[in-house]
Amino acid sequence: MPAVIEYPDKGEDTMELIRIPRIMQDTCRKHLQKGRSIGFVPTMGALHDGHLSLIRRAKSENDIVVASIFVNPLQFGPSEDFASYPRVIDEDTIKLRELGIDVIFIPDNSLMYPPGFSTYIDAGPVSEKLCGQFRPGHFRGVATVVAKLLNLISPTRAYFGRKDFQQTVVIRRMTRDLDINTEIVVCPTIREEDGLAMSSRNRYLSAGERAAATVLFRAMSTVSDGLQAGGTSISELKKNLISEISKEGLITSIDYASIYNPETLEEIKESGQLKEVLVAVAVRMGKTRLIDNLIVNLT
Ligand code: PAJ
Repeated sequence: MPAVIEYPDKGEDTMELIRIPRIMQDTCRKHLQKGRSIGFVPTMGALHDGHLSLIRRAKSENDIVVASIFVNPLQFGPSEDFASYPRVIDEDTIKLRELGIDVIFIPDNSLMYPPGFSTYIDAGPVSEKLCGQFRPGHFRGVATVVAKLLNLISPTRAYFGRKDFQQTVVIRRMTRDLDINTEIVVCPTIREEDGLAMSSRNRYLSAGERAAATVLFRAMSTVSDGLQAGGTSISELKKNLISEISKEGLITSIDYASIYNPETLEEIKESGQLKEVLVAVAVRMGKTRLIDNLIVNLT
């Protein structure tokens, strides 16, 4: 009788960790040459269930799944939280290994932006609205790094969360305009049980702020109900949105809170022919900036 050889669960051992862009490019090229589809999930780490939902979706739709963790300095303003952004690579790697992804890309800053780097991508007007007014240069940084990552990986599909709605608009614009041959897949926002959208930045909130932050989803849901019921003007709904959020004392300031055309990101005065509208908010609670949105179907 031949001996029975028991192999350990290989699933856990097959994740490749790559730090060098050129090696990333070669690895992905080999997979594509073998006819495998690649699903790609770019992140800045501190992974939560929102990120993991994108990875599960990518796994279900592709042969190979690649995730990146890169806290991209280009998308942070000088007074923003680049230095203090949570970096928990070991925890993240364990989570990704458990999900059974194929490749994790963790590039060094110096290899992504070597001395002399000077090419940037500006997606135009959609970058300037909403968060663009309060975070100048942010979407230029996002579009530039995502273009670099898409060039390194050449994914069949790339997955983004609706939580960062404007980011998805910017990336769609950029991939269309630059003929980048990747399907952009936008996935639903994953929320805590009390409605707060999951975010790596929620770690910054004190217990009091964490409880207070639920006002955003409540206030947006009230607007959504009002829009679907009809009978209340858009301007009235906007006023109510701002006044409900302002009542929460721990909210230091509101960057914006309004109702927009989801394609152009222009604020709207009436829903007109629109089938969907975007309710979007950005607020500051102490040092933490929180954003959230809902897409409301009007048909
Ligand atoms: P990060 O904030 O780490 O988010 C990575 C991806 O996860 C984004 O597509 C984001 O929209 C998605 N995501 C975050 N919270 C989510 C939630 N609660 N539900 C569903 N998806 C969620 O967004 C970035 O990183 C960066 O800008 C990046 C695209 C990586 C470029 O640097």
